[in-house]
Amino acid sequence: MSKNIVIAIDGYSSCGKSTIAKALAKKLHFIYIDTGAMYRAVTLYFLRNKIDLNNPVAVNTALDNININLDNHNEQTLVLLNEEDVSEEIRQMPVSEKVSQVSAIKAVRTEMVKQQQRMGKSKNIIMDGRDIGTVVFPDATLKFFMTADPHIRAERRYKELINKGEKVSLEEIYENLALRDHQDTTREESPLSKAKDAIVLDNSTINQEMQLEFALTYIRPLLSDKNLE
Ligand code: DC
Repeated sequence: MSKNIVIAIDGYSSCGKSTIAKALAKKLHFIYIDTGAMYRAVTLYFLRNKIDLNNPVAVNTALDNININLDNHNEQTLVLLNEEDVSEEIRQMPVSEKVSQVSAIKAVRTEMVKQQQRMGKSKNIIMDGRDIGTVVFPDATLKFFMTADPHIRAERRYKELINKGEKVSLEEIYENLALRDHQDTTREESPLSKAKDAIVLDNSTINQEMQLEFALTYIRPLLSDKNLE
C-alpha cells in the first residue's frame, strides 16, 4: 500500500479550520481529526474535577483518567470523554475561557500529541489544530495555515453561538479570541506558528466554496481519481 496522506491545517481560533477540514474529509473520504476538541475535552475534565493546573501530580493523574474518542457521524464529530458525549459542552464559554491555559501545559501537550500521532499513523487524515504542521506531523504531505481578520472571526463565532441560543456579546467573543491568539502564539510549549512549508489561506473575504477549491488545487495532484467524489 502507498504511504498514507496527512493534511495538516493550522491557524488561529475561529478561522474556519474545521469547516474546511470537514468538507475536504468528506470529499476525499479521509478521516477528520479535530485536535482542538481534544484539548477542550481535557479542559472540561479539569474544570469538572477542579484540577489545580499548577500541581503536576494532579495534572498527570487526571491525564491518566481521561479517555477521549472522536467519532465522525454524518459530518458531525462526536467528542466522547470517558464514553460521555460532551460535543456541545466543550464549545461553551467556561471551556473556551480556560482551554488556552490548559493546552499550554507540557504534560497535556505531550499526551495529546502522542494520541494524535497514533491516529494518523496508517490512515489518510485531515487534522486541524495549532501545531499539526510544526510538531505533530512535521512531515505532513501538505500543510495549510489559515488566518482571517480578527473582527470577521469574532462576528462569525458570535453568530454561531447566538444561533445555538447562548447569551454572549460580540465584545466578549472578540476579547476571548484576542486573548486566545495571544496565549496560543506566545506560550512556551509549541506555540502557534506557521510551518515554513505551509500554504497560507486567508479567508477574510472568500466563501467556503472558494476555500475548498483553493485547497483542492494543491491536493488533487497528490491523489488518484478514486479518492475524489
Ligand atoms: O480549535 P479550537 O478553538 O477548538 O481550540 C481550542 C484551544 O485548544 C485553542 O485555544 C488552542 C488549543 N489547541 C492547541 O493548543 N493545539 C492544538 N493542536 C489544537 C488546539
